[in-house]
Amino acid sequence: MSAQPGTVPIPLADVSVVGGERAATGIAELDRVLGGGVVRGSLVLIGGDPGIGKSTLLLQASRALADLGAPVLYVSGEESAAQVKLRADRLGVSPKGLYLLAETNLEAIEAHAGSLKPPVLVVDSIQTVYLPDLESAPGSVSQVRECGARLMLLAKRQGVATFLVGHVTKEGALAGPRVLEHLVDTVLYFEGEPHHTYRVLRAVKNRFGSTNEIGVFEMTERGLAEVKNPSGFFLSERPQGVPGSVVVSSLEGTRPFLLELQVLVSPANFGTPRRTVLGMDYNRVCLLLAVLEKRLGFPLQTQDVFVNVAGGARVVEPAADLGLVVAAASSYMDRPVTGNLVVFGEVGLAGEVRAVAGFERRLREAAALGFTGAVVPRNNLSAETPLPLEPQGVVSIDEAIQALLGR
Ligand code: TYD
Ligand code: MG
Repeated sequence: MSAQPGTVPIPLADVSVVGGERAATGIAELDRVLGGGVVRGSLVLIGGDPGIGKSTLLLQASRALADLGAPVLYVSGEESAAQVKLRADRLGVSPKGLYLLAETNLEAIEAHAGSLKPPVLVVDSIQTVYLPDLESAPGSVSQVRECGARLMLLAKRQGVATFLVGHVTKEGALAGPRVLEHLVDTVLYFEGEPHHTYRVLRAVKNRFGSTNEIGVFEMTERGLAEVKNPSGFFLSERPQGVPGSVVVSSLEGTRPFLLELQVLVSPANFGTPRRTVLGMDYNRVCLLLAVLEKRLGFPLQTQDVFVNVAGGARVVEPAADLGLVVAAASSYMDRPVTGNLVVFGEVGLAGEVRAVAGFERRLREAAALGFTGAVVPRNNLSAETPLPLEPQGVVSIDEAIQALLGR
């Protein structure tokens, strides 16, 4: 094969990095998830359920970006300029540099972007814009894909940091923005429960930063407020001395969160006992209940079990295993976990408690929030490092339940 004309291998050391500049949105939680601010010429997809707060977030982010002096072009295909203005007023967003455009024809959007030359462009949403040359309707796979590709070209050629809003359904099945995930530089998902006010922004792909970081917000009357202390937020309504309630530590990226796990075990009336799980993986919970039953003889096959993570939060980490087992035992025995304690550790099928990552960080967060003790995997303890609080190491769920519930 002959080399293509025009492309020459360059030594890595000689490659000049262009377009690496970043601008802060003024929303620290968003900037961190982006990897330290918005990168010039990058294409960022923000997906999430309708009504979760994507437009609100981007309007608020536009404020600081427009305050920097450069224009921000906010294209709304879903709401009229007047509707966006009303929302902006409510949020107290009124920078001079913010331009609204109610348009869905992508060629017109490109023309306006070409003449205004905004360093930041928001397209809300990718499902509403269309190219007239394509026959399919806006929101169809081919429209979404083609429009996405055109906006990518625009972003790279003009150095415009572009945000695309994409609505996702719970099933994620609709001809949604998922077809864009491979194309864009960064994919963020904005999540939350409809009946809770907190929202989590998660990076699932980021060419300019880590995908581990998350941002936490609360939806208020006046828009999204950053939650600087998520653990305090999630634990604020925790009942004291109640059976079935245990505080666990969940590590999201580099940030440890303390969350309250609640389990209610109550006698089943007839037939197959019920298992209802909110905020944790259903199969993981069934597995842990089976371990508790088989290894320690808790007769859970006669019991309904309800699991909830307080505040509508979600735990995806195995480090919450031990907390779940202890909470279930606590509820079954009707005996609370006393003391100001956090509990964490992965539980194996033999009932063993396994070490978890980020051990010290979890303890530091617990100490910072006023916890005075922790029950943790023994394998995480080493003599050398001084720890912020005095943890008790355990090797099995049996030992943990003995220590916490005196069984
Ligand atoms: P929105 O940003 O329009 O969601 P999306 O663009 O993801 O569809 O947010 C919609 C919800 O947020 C709406 O139900 C009202 C609520 N909201 C507030 O509670 N406070 C506010 O200040 C704003 C602007 C919206
Ligand atoms: Mg919207």
